[in-house]
Amino acid sequence: MYSPAVIEHFTNPRNIGYIEDATVAVQYGEPSCGDCLLVFLKIDNDILREMKYKVLGCAAAIATASMTSVLATDRSVAEALELTESEVAEALGGLPPDKMHCSNLAVGALKAALRVYLSRQEQAAEQSS
Ligand code: FES
Repeated sequence: MYSPAVIEHFTNPRNIGYIEDATVAVQYGEPSCGDCLLVFLKIDNDILREMKYKVLGCAAAIATASMTSVLATDRSVAEALELTESEVAEALGGLPPDKMHCSNLAVGALKAALRVYLSRQEQAAEQSS
């Protein structure tokens, strides 16, 4: 059912955990199944230096969160916002059709956190002008 890469990332997830001094942290849920993810980003000079997460979800949710963190790390904020669910699924050798929605969780959480970061940046720029 799952590709070898999905099984490998599920059993050995990369970058799992917290970032104490995260630039931004958000909680994000997948309404269709109730799974959720806490994501922590460390951003320096508009580069995503580190992504960590805690996930409460299925095997595919864990594997896609792991792969999302690998693919997003060291991208600029703009590049990280372009990461897609299909890119994550492809990097994992594909997901079963009924599990494709699971890749929405981590990618959605990443983008929600990046939008919070950008909104704070805008607010800070407005306050200083
Ligand atoms: Fe909920 Fe996979 S079943 S994210």
